Amino acid sequence: MPNAVIVGTQWGDEGKAKVIDYLSRTCDIVIRFHGGANAGHTVMADGRKFIFHLVPSGIMYPEKICVVSNGVVLDIEQFLKEIDELTEKQISVKGRLFVSDLAHLVLPYHKLQDTASESAMGSAKIGTTGRGIGPAYADKASRTGLRVGDLLEWDSFAEKFRKNCEAKRLLLAANKQPFELDVDESLKQYRSMRDRILPFITDTSDLLYSAAQRGKSLLFEGAQGTFLDIDHGTYPFVTSSNTVSGAACTGAGVGPAQINHVVGIVKAYTTRVGNGPFPTEQVNATGEHIRVKGGEFGATTGRARRCGWFDSVLLRRSVQLNGLTRLALTKLDVLSDLDEIKICTQYEIGGKLVDVFPTSLRQVEQAVPRYESFPGWKSDLSSCRTLSDLPANALRYVKRLQELCYGVPLLLVSLGPDRLQTMEVEPLN
Ligand code: IMP
Repeated sequence: MPNAVIVGTQWGDEGKAKVIDYLSRTCDIVIRFHGGANAGHTVMADGRKFIFHLVPSGIMYPEKICVVSNGVVLDIEQFLKEIDELTEKQISVKGRLFVSDLAHLVLPYHKLQDTASESAMGSAKIGTTGRGIGPAYADKASRTGLRVGDLLEWDSFAEKFRKNCEAKRLLLAANKQPFELDVDESLKQYRSMRDRILPFITDTSDLLYSAAQRGKSLLFEGAQGTFLDIDHGTYPFVTSSNTVSGAACTGAGVGPAQINHVVGIVKAYTTRVGNGPFPTEQVNATGEHIRVKGGEFGATTGRARRCGWFDSVLLRRSVQLNGLTRLALTKLDVLSDLDEIKICTQYEIGGKLVDVFPTSLRQVEQAVPRYESFPGWKSDLSSCRTLSDLPANALRYVKRLQELCYGVPLLLVSLGPDRLQTMEVEPLN
């Protein structure tokens, strides 16, 4: 298989895990390259449900190598918990799971900071996952972060940890927030977790380069979605990493020429969790129907997701930002009971028609969606195996959606959570 990056094209939760799982069958190495335990990837396999926050979902295939590379912010406690859960289910990670020494750590004080900053913001809060992601990336940028590799020298790690705790205590005190962390106890916990994480620590960019030289194929597993990107998303209502395909290079330490394909995961409608503008949101019975039928509740926080119509204005920007070479359309089956289905084709902003998602948050907030309406297909899609099996109205919807996304070819259409409920259209070549 050629090397490919998988990205979410909307606001996350597009069903990436299923597509990653699907493509993992034919690649050799799966790499998580950004974000942290804010992501929640659900995979259904053999009737069992697995939720991953940090371990790449490719771990489900016993012969695959999985890498957590430098761009990730690693919460060791969560990481070890996932390994324990996998071991309990007889999935061994020994010798095939690697963590970059350059990955920054999410530490308990980052979570305190995350919660404190959200509560200080009141109604203007971002609606973060509370996993300490923003503060961990902020420390990385301000060069006070601790990295996985720091654990190799315990005394120096402990000294830096104490110093950072003191700095955070002062920071929180200045905002009248408590610093609820027992530093000695926390260090004791890290000391014991350290022993477990050491065998995984690796120079992962060397590992990836050498593997690619030997002809191994790489699958880069994106988290969150394009419009949560720290640069290109609906700032400040974004996450704190770059989520677009280019981040695979910096986040994994590979050159752009290593990437052959970029697959954008596109949900057949739109959802968003957390605050921020969402032009096609449906705060009505349709939104509620999609939420319930689509199981649109967060895998990480359990929060109800906001739901709305498919937005091609958003998607065209996503095609541009990611350089998509394939679309993977997910959750088409969720729309099956609706009488009428809509696609947003343009926004009207200040009396002008706009084709591509604006860079200005103010404009996005003012956008009035223009819709094209489609009759529903009102039938079960579960027995469809190829595009031609789809009812005419469903096929019309898919074709129009693809056309509005600059005609990028479809890799597959997913009709349900199981591995078998997948129609492959144009494979990666
Ligand atoms: P943070 O990444 O926890 O700082 O949260 C920032 C914003 O990104 C919030 O709106 C979150 O709800 C959103 N977010 C973070 N991770 C995910 C994800 O995996 N799926 C969907 N939204 C996410």
